[in-house]
Amino acid sequence: MARLKVGVLISGRGSNLQSLLDACADPAFPAEIALVISNIADAYGLERAKQAGVETCVISHKDFPSRAEFDQAIDARLRQAGIETVCLAGFMRLLTAEFVAGWKGRMLNIHPSLLPNFKGMHTHAQALAAGVKLHGCTVHHVTAELDAGPIVAQAAVPVLEGDDEEALAARVLRAEHQLYPLALGLLAGGKAAQDPLAVIFSPPPLSPPPEAR
Ligand code: GRF
Repeated sequence: MARLKVGVLISGRGSNLQSLLDACADPAFPAEIALVISNIADAYGLERAKQAGVETCVISHKDFPSRAEFDQAIDARLRQAGIETVCLAGFMRLLTAEFVAGWKGRMLNIHPSLLPNFKGMHTHAQALAAGVKLHGCTVHHVTAELDAGPIVAQAAVPVLEGDDEEALAARVLRAEHQLYPLALGLLAGGKAAQDPLAVIFSPPPLSPPPEAR
């Protein structure tokens, strides 16, 4: 079985990258990670990729006079490596409309909220401020508009009494690590085209009430 060749763009710790690497370690998984690109030279995710024997590359946005030229350099590297699909995993640069158009239907992002709620940054603080009881994460196709592309899959987690940003972020991150491989598997299997197809709710078990502990 030919596996989908995936390139992952990161900027930081790479825990979502790790979940994808782990999924791809199974030869039966329909995708393989062939290249990891970071715009930050000391991003820990690069170590994770090296540990998994995956080729890495640093392309710093600081080395380019414009966003367009930075994006062109990334695009050229991805195509040189024969990448078929791109996964953004904590990649902290906005991509130009031209770059996005070149990967239409073949680029995913993971966002730590149940989109369309809480786009942009500080999503857990936004969720706490809004008082929602259900929060979560979304894997979506990337379009030129930030955090607005067609949704492939979502996982919901409860907001618990006494949660602060850190506790909520940790709960959502555990769900992210389940959701991204699942969504990539859907895409690689041809089941996550531009139309939203799958919405998965997988709340972790609630803590037992105090009297049951
Ligand atoms: C994750 O919360 C992801 O949803 C967001 O950025 C964070 C990246 O974390 N886009 P990591 O680098 O994958 O650990």
